[in-house]
Amino acid sequence: MNIILKVEVDGMIVCCCQGVSDRLIKSSIEQGAQSRADVTTACEAGKDCGACHGMIDELLEEHRNTTDACSHPRLRLVPAA
Ligand code: FES
Repeated sequence: MNIILKVEVDGMIVCCCQGVSDRLIKSSIEQGAQSRADVTTACEAGKDCGACHGMIDELLEEHRNTTDACSHPRLRLVPAA
């Protein structure tokens, strides 16, 4: 007999070991996680096999690039029309 377990997740699973989505990782980063270790502490993503470390690093880098551009003194965010 096969058993199918269906789990609904908000976002895309990045860390299969812990079942952590990209949205939860991004939320951890937005709340102050600045390194992979911080992300792991905040939401447990990346604490087992390490297969997701690259994706966590990409999400951290993506956030840094976004916030660096927004904090540039000559740039400012304006609402979309
Ligand atoms: S997939 Fe994230 S620790 Fe294994």
